[in-house]
Amino acid sequence: MDKIRFGGDYNPEQWPEDVWDQDMALFEEASVDTLTVNVFAWATLQPDEHTYDFAVLDRILEKLAAAGKTVCLATSTAAHPAWMARAYPDVTRVDFDGRRHVFGQRHNSCPNSPAYRRFSAELARRIAERYGRADNPASGIVVAWHVNNEYGGTCYCEHCAAAFRVWLRARYGSLSALNEAWNTAFWSHTFYAWDEVVPPNALSEHGGGPDVTAFQGITLDYLRFNSDSLLRNFIDEKSAIREFSPDLPVTTNFMGMYRPLDYFRWAPHLDFVSWDNYPPDMQSHARMALTHDLMRGLKGGRPFWLMEQTPSQTACRAFNPVKRPGVMRLWSYQAVAHGADAVLFFQMRQSRGASEKEHGAVITHGGRSDTRVFREVAGLGEELEALAGEIVGARTYAKVALVFDWDSWWAVEISDGPSRHVSYQQTLIAYYRALYERNVAVDVVPTGADLAGYDVVVAPLLHVIQGDLAARVEAFVEGGGTFVTSFLSGRVDESDNAFGMDAPGPLARVLGIRIDETDALAPEDLNAVVFDGGAVRFAANLVFDLLQPGTAEVVGVYESDFYAGTAAVTRNVVVGEGGSGDAWYVGTNLDAGGLGWLFDRVLGDRGLLNAYSGLPGVEAVTRHRDDVAYLFLLNHGDVAADVVAETDGVSLLTRTPVRAGEHLTLAPKDVLILRSRTC
Ligand code: GLA
Ligand code: ZN
Repeated sequence: MDKIRFGGDYNPEQWPEDVWDQDMALFEEASVDTLTVNVFAWATLQPDEHTYDFAVLDRILEKLAAAGKTVCLATSTAAHPAWMARAYPDVTRVDFDGRRHVFGQRHNSCPNSPAYRRFSAELARRIAERYGRADNPASGIVVAWHVNNEYGGTCYCEHCAAAFRVWLRARYGSLSALNEAWNTAFWSHTFYAWDEVVPPNALSEHGGGPDVTAFQGITLDYLRFNSDSLLRNFIDEKSAIREFSPDLPVTTNFMGMYRPLDYFRWAPHLDFVSWDNYPPDMQSHARMALTHDLMRGLKGGRPFWLMEQTPSQTACRAFNPVKRPGVMRLWSYQAVAHGADAVLFFQMRQSRGASEKEHGAVITHGGRSDTRVFREVAGLGEELEALAGEIVGARTYAKVALVFDWDSWWAVEISDGPSRHVSYQQTLIAYYRALYERNVAVDVVPTGADLAGYDVVVAPLLHVIQGDLAARVEAFVEGGGTFVTSFLSGRVDESDNAFGMDAPGPLARVLGIRIDETDALAPEDLNAVVFDGGAVRFAANLVFDLLQPGTAEVVGVYESDFYAGTAAVTRNVVVGEGGSGDAWYVGTNLDAGGLGWLFDRVLGDRGLLNAYSGLPGVEAVTRHRDDVAYLFLLNHGDVAADVVAETDGVSLLTRTPVRAGEHLTLAPKDVLILRSRTC
């Protein structure tokens, strides 16, 4: 579709059919064009093991086809039917505490249950057979396949244990290699037979909860294995779909920064990325921006779909604030600014019962169009319709990369020592926020990415160093790049074993430092880092590396404790054939002001600060298509902002011309899209 898609999850099977016509009329009124259907209908589609019944789905698709809508068609496999749990109890999961679950909830199937794998692939096959073929009247309106829903969770059953052993054999080849990788000489853990290996949970390696494990190597591999197990479920269904639908793109809705699944390992198997944006609070602009950039980064910068967001409020939290006027529109454009080519909601018509009856919806129980939420949705729909083919497919160009690594996320958080208070996600958000507040475009990349095109690569908590990563970082800096990393980086190999060398291991040379000790204190025990010979100081907490600068210059020093005056932040200049690069090390958890100071310096040195850097409350993001630039100015603040246009162009949402140098006023929560020519 040559426009930004607009619509969302629609579950009419949960409502009497006599409201469907009202829905169609309201969709029309809100300029809705794309509906995601059939997400949770397995019980209707397959009432028993041998019977498939597509009558209701046929009618839903006929209705949508008649209304001229397009459909993202889901496979309904994210909640198994009751008869299946009764006849095949192994479709349910065994939890962390070793308890076998019974029927209930959703996202509840064991990924390695033979019955679940067989039935889910078969359902996907039959849906694709029915609606993917050109002779089905509905096939013309299906534009994408939506496999399952928000894959997640972990199972520890016997099927999973057996599959884990198969996975381990493939990874290690021999038991001696596995014993070596897991360092099983520790605590007499040598395995003599594959069957002795059991999943790491509360009954085995985990004494104090999911993040407290006796054997990090085992737990790390189980995290990888679990991610791969669920991925195999996705591939099962995708392969079944491909038997009948060779071309239509296939996706599943991701959950952003979701720890259990390594989305970089998943992304190659998706035809496009889609994700569900439910930020924890109203102050999450930087976090949302990071997550959008991560989702765009999963497929190397290709546009993604915002598959779900609530038009107003969630229901699952202890309290669920409604989005204030303008916020839904603002966050929708933020998604588009960062690469979304679809803006979709959960959900179109509010649930009648169960846990989402209070969840926000475009159409509430009363079916009215004169509510604030409906009017705001309809207003956005009209704007997106007026934008027509603008923006769709446009790309982002960034000179700064942020490395995001699930292995490091897992390893640093399951590590016993030095601190259980280090949060990978919060640390990545903190570093990203410093870039975000300077309105610098960021690509979020995996450790395997080609770094050559970037000026600055930021890699906080790069805990795990595997493959040729350290060599590629060295080559990047020798080629003139700036590399920034933090405490607890370079600590372990891919099996979570320390390197037989000084910390930060393979990164030590490029950083020009040695770490002899790492102090870790209670979160409330603050130290500070002093920069510029005492001119500025910023608070720091959690972890304090005691550094021996070798070739590195000392940029900031600790203010107090027995290591007062010693290096906390260093910069190592490396002269290589490609120019002069530098590698920064931040040995402690600097506060936001400290990271801001650091990135003013790093980005300033590189000439990457721009006219919109540090504009309070205003986010500036650009997408490019051919020689057209779309600059999004998003006012997240509560006061009007004054922004000076940098170029001539057109303000797309108001269709008014703009001159370079002109002062533009952006009301609180307002959005301005400035289209200009780049040559
Ligand atoms: C998730 C799910 C939806 C719905 C929403 C509610 O994103 O995918 O089915 O439950 O949450 O916020
Ligand atoms: Zn299982």
